[in-house]
Amino acid sequence: MGRDKILVIGANGQLGCVLSVALQESFGKENVILSDIKPNPFFESHFKQIDAMDYNQIEDVVKKHSITQIYHLAAILSAKGERYPLRTWELNMKMMLNVFEVARKLRVSKVFFPSSIAVFGKNVARSKATQSSLLNPATVYGISKAAGENWMKYYFDQYRLDVRSLRYPGIVGYESMPGGGTTDYAVEIYHSAVKNEKYICCLNPDTKLPLIYMDDAIRATIEIMQIPKDNISVRTSYNLASMSLSPIEIATEIQKLYPSFKVEYSTDHRQDIAATWPSEIDDQKARKDWNWQSKYDLNQMTKLMLNQLKKKYKKINN
Ligand SMILES: NC(=O)c1ccc[n+]([C@@H]2O[C@H](COP(=O)([O-])OP(=O)(O)OC[C@H]3O[C@@H](n4cnc5c(N)ncnc54)[C@H](O)[C@@H]3O)[C@@H](O)[C@H]2O)c1
Repeated sequence: MGRDKILVIGANGQLGCVLSVALQESFGKENVILSDIKPNPFFESHFKQIDAMDYNQIEDVVKKHSITQIYHLAAILSAKGERYPLRTWELNMKMMLNVFEVARKLRVSKVFFPSSIAVFGKNVARSKATQSSLLNPATVYGISKAAGENWMKYYFDQYRLDVRSLRYPGIVGYESMPGGGTTDYAVEIYHSAVKNEKYICCLNPDTKLPLIYMDDAIRATIEIMQIPKDNISVRTSYNLASMSLSPIEIATEIQKLYPSFKVEYSTDHRQDIAATWPSEIDDQKARKDWNWQSKYDLNQMTKLMLNQLKKKYKKINN
C-alpha cells in the first residue's frame, strides 16, 4: 500500500469522516488527502476545501498530490434529494462525471463510487433484491445512482477506468450523524434513547429495510478496493447485505437496555420512499467474488451504539 495516494471527496459526511480515519490508518496520514465543500476543524492537516462541481479544483489536487485512488462520496441523499429533484440530479451527476473524467485523463488507478439500495424501485419484490433485479428507482437520488452505475460500466468498458462500487444499505454508526437519507431514523433512534428522549419515527413500525453497521460498511469498502481487478465480475455495483430490520425491532432491542425508552410513529414522505425499497438484499455475488461477509447483528450493533453514544454525551455534558 506504500505508494498509494488517496483523495476522499465528501470527507465530512456520515460515511466520509469514519472512512477517512480508516484510510489514514491503512495508508498513513500523509498519503490521504481529505476534501469537502465545507471546512472541517477535526481534519486540520491534509485537508483541502474543494467543490466537486468544479472540475479544475479536483484536477489540481489530483495533479499536485499524484493521487492514485479517489473515493468519491459527495452526493445529495434520498430524502433531501426529493425536495430539490433537479438540483440533486445536476449535483450528483456533475460531481461524479468530474471525478471520472479527472481519473481517466490523469490515469488514476482506482476510483470508489458508492451506489445504494435506492436503485431498486417499485417493481422489485420487497422480499429480496438480487444482483440482477430490475433497476426502477422511485427517487431522483436512486435515478442518479442507477445512472451512475451505468456510467461506471461505460468508463470501464471504454477507458478501462477501474471504478469499484457497493450498493450500501442504510449505514448505522455512532461516530457521525446521517445527512438526509431515508434510513436516518436508525441512527437518530439511538441518540434519543441515550438522551432519555422520546423518539418520533418517520417510518411505520414494521417497515423492514436493509441496514449495515458502520464497521462492516467500512470494511466492505476497504476490501473491495483491495481485491485484484480480475476478481471483479460486477462493473456496475455490488449488492451488499448485512441486516434487515424494522423500527420496532430496533426499538425493542434498545428497550432491553433502556426499558423506559418510547417511540412514537408519525410517518412522512420518507415512508413513501421506504415502501419502494427492498426489505432484503441478496449479496451472493459479493460473497462469491471477494468473500464478503458482514459481522454485526442487531444485538451487537445496539450494544455498541448505546455504549459509545453514552460515552460521547457524557463527554459533551462535562
Ligand atoms: N449513509 C448511508 O446510509 C448511505 C447509504 C447508501 C449510499 N450512501 C452513499 O455513500 C456516500 C456518502 O454518504 P454519506 O451518508 O456520508 O453522505 P453525507 O450527506 O453525510 O455526506 C456527503 C458529503 O458530501 C459533501 N458535499 C456535498 N456537496 C459537495 C460538493 N459540491 N463538493 C464537495 N463535497 C460536497 C457534504 O458537505 C457532505 O460532507 C454517498 O454517495 C451516498 O449516496 C450512503
